[in-house]
Amino acid sequence: MDKIVNVAIMGIGTVGGGTYEILTKNHDFLLKNQGIDFRVKKVLDKNLERIRSFGIPEEKAASSVDEIAADKDISVVVETMGGVEPAKTFIEKVLLSGKNVVTANKELISKHWPELEAAAKKGGAGLYFEASCVGGVPIIRALEESLQANRINSLVGIINGTTNYILTKMTEEGMSYEAALKEAQQLGYAEFDPTSDVEGYDAAYKLSILSSLAFHTCVPYTCVYREGITKITKTDIKMGSEMGYVIKLLAIGKRTGDGVEVRVHPTFVPKSHPLAGVGGSFNAVFLNGDFVDDLMFYGRGAGARPTGSAIVSDIVYAAKRVSPLYSDFDNSGKADVEISSDYVCKYYVSISVNDATGVLASLSNVFAKNNVSIENLIQKGENGRAAIFFLTHACKESDVRRAVSEIEKYDGTNRVENLIRVLE
Ligand code: HSE
Repeated sequence: MDKIVNVAIMGIGTVGGGTYEILTKNHDFLLKNQGIDFRVKKVLDKNLERIRSFGIPEEKAASSVDEIAADKDISVVVETMGGVEPAKTFIEKVLLSGKNVVTANKELISKHWPELEAAAKKGGAGLYFEASCVGGVPIIRALEESLQANRINSLVGIINGTTNYILTKMTEEGMSYEAALKEAQQLGYAEFDPTSDVEGYDAAYKLSILSSLAFHTCVPYTCVYREGITKITKTDIKMGSEMGYVIKLLAIGKRTGDGVEVRVHPTFVPKSHPLAGVGGSFNAVFLNGDFVDDLMFYGRGAGARPTGSAIVSDIVYAAKRVSPLYSDFDNSGKADVEISSDYVCKYYVSISVNDATGVLASLSNVFAKNNVSIENLIQKGENGRAAIFFLTHACKESDVRRAVSEIEKYDGTNRVENLIRVLE
């Protein structure tokens, strides 16, 4: 006999609506292939109009989270409200009542995973969040279940579609940052307040979750180094291109000698690297494992249907598991390995200087004195000023930063315009 699984959805916005649509349109498909009759029994949203707009019968509207928690027929609760509160309180309540929770909430998981997991264990429930990272791309299930044989050496991703869209427009159409942002807002990729995307918070939340799973240790999001894309100029993109690179906002998690490094920042990616071709609002994650070698996951990281796809796959997963799945590491809120910050890579340094005898030689001396070797440079000059674009060999970030602060004080320097890391 087919199993009936009653589902509640908290938050009927874009993603909650996408989830409802999949459960409804693919109801018979899921019944036939999974042997489960999924029924959306209750929907919680303050806005009744929104509930109606998805064609959801009004009698399914729940009056409170308590009504959902008390309903013994509901076994899976989807949280698509977003933000930390009241989502956290609601999730804890339903977990403690023994219901599995499926969430797309990266901010909440990255900030409060240990408490939520503790509530899940106490309630004997599962907490699943495939949709929290990289939308429809099944990266979490892959890390948790398909790649356990491997020590993951590195995970490098384009995990924010809004910034990838903006940088792609700047690169391919020569748009300014402001114009590209405006277009992303008009298309609904970027929010009215774009801070979370353009300053790298969204990517940092996701990287904290992905790195924790990849490296089997809790990687708090506060340990993720974060830099956004707002300082990237068309000049940087052009000069990077002349040197063989394309700019991307990368999230990088890497196993180092003693621990891990986790960082989100604009990065020059060699044009030959598979991530260089990931354009527009698409996302991708490039992994290296000690036995599987290189792997790349590519797809849509946002939107009602791709994110709904990840949520529904978690609903099916939760409904079919015999016992809940919890982290395979001590999820205490603290990393049990060192989080290193002195990165080693190549750097692009853009400096505006006075075009005078000896200026280039002096700058080169400062780099050399600080153990920074130059691989390439481009100089463009006009009206007594010159812009010099250095590409270093791989060196320590502490060395390049010391050189840059000396250069900033040097008489011949007008301004250090930018410092951008380069993917090896
Ligand atoms: N705003 C995110 C992005 C999607 O642009 O990728 C949700 O995390």
